[in-house]
Amino acid sequence: MEAKRVEETKLRMAQVMTPNDANVLGKVFGGSILALIDLTASAVSSKFAGRVCVTAAFERVDFLAPVEIGELVELDGFVSFVGRTSVEVTIEVHATHLATNTTRHVNTARVTMVAVQDGRPVAVPRLICGTREEKLAFLAGRLRRELRAERSIQTEKLLTKLNEMDDAQVDGYYSNDAPLSLQLI
Ligand SMILES: CC(C)(COP(=O)(O)OP(=O)(O)OC[C@H]1O[C@@H](n2cnc3c(N)ncnc32)[C@H](O)[C@@H]1OP(=O)(O)O)[C@@H](O)C(=O)NCCC(=O)NCCS
Repeated sequence: MEAKRVEETKLRMAQVMTPNDANVLGKVFGGSILALIDLTASAVSSKFAGRVCVTAAFERVDFLAPVEIGELVELDGFVSFVGRTSVEVTIEVHATHLATNTTRHVNTARVTMVAVQDGRPVAVPRLICGTREEKLAFLAGRLRRELRAERSIQTEKLLTKLNEMDDAQVDGYYSNDAPLSLQLI
């Protein structure tokens, strides 16, 4: 499998948001933006891997500013990190008010995609990072993956502890506001 340079993985998708995308406040529904992010991640990862990739996980997504109906949403995606079968896609989302040509950054999203064949994960190409920025993005992806694994073990441990407490302990923790994770560790 031929290794690919980060530059080759870049892809842009764009869409004008219509009233079909509106929430009850008349702004763009967050789910419409998530769907576009998912589509972009799918296109970037499948093009990179040379096979179909499925969505394994979304990293936390923060909506930094509302998007208005009629605005142009542009999603710029690239492969930031790869494991053996997984591909992390980073997507920058901008919204442009077309009449005034003013653009705002509204979102940065990271999605982990997995290359599959017959429903089973399969190996993806290596990613060649040439610049310092690309190498830092790769290392950040590696760090996110390690911290995710650590956090998930720790969360599971603390939730087990919580569920095994007797009623007096539950009432004790419930009636004080000190950071719960620190009290449980
Ligand atoms: C994603 C999926 C293929 C992973 O299958 P699996 O049997 O759990 O595979 P593995 O445990 O061998 O993991 C394969 C890779 O995915 C990564 N992965 C799996 N679950 C993950 C998660 N929740 N978050 C981040 N990475 C994940 C693993 O770290 C591994 O990466 P690596 O090969 O680069 O080291 C499987 O869970 C699946 O089909 N999920 C549904 C996907 C889907 O339908 N998405 C659309 C939702 S509607």
